[in-house]
Amino acid sequence: MFAEIEPVMEKYAGVPGSLITILQKTQEAYGYLAEDAIFYIAQRTGVPASKIYGVATFYTQFRLKPVGKYILMLCKGTACHVNGAAGIEEAVSEHLGIADGETTADGLFTLDVVACLGCCSLAPVMMVKGPAGEETHGALTKDRVRAIIDEIGAGEKSLKA
Ligand code: FES
Repeated sequence: MFAEIEPVMEKYAGVPGSLITILQKTQEAYGYLAEDAIFYIAQRTGVPASKIYGVATFYTQFRLKPVGKYILMLCKGTACHVNGAAGIEEAVSEHLGIADGETTADGLFTLDVVACLGCCSLAPVMMVKGPAGEETHGALTKDRVRAIIDEIGAGEKSLKA
């Protein structure tokens, strides 16, 4: 059932202090930490599920809900902040009807407000993580960010057509 994380379990399940690594690898494999995945990790590592939940909710890097096909990682680090990131976030939220950490009802987009993405000279910046990999968009404006989202949406519609 959790074949994707079996190699991780084999390597780390018995190693003390490896819980965060296991959770990171599990999230990488499935996009989020599902309840049954947490119980599976508990069973394999011997760490109580309640403790795993405690760790997963303490660190903001972990998600307990499914994510969209495209994750819109919007930077609110200092450089992006002073270059209008708040306005960009507002535009994305209004355009998609979701707030930070939420996913659109069609399962296409998740908004994830993050700290510095490491390309501050392009501020304000958004990285889009999708099935084809990651794409970074810089010097964003409200219009540009809406256009990027619409382009992705149109591409998805044409895939279905
Ligand atoms: S502050 Fe946004 S990329 Fe560095």
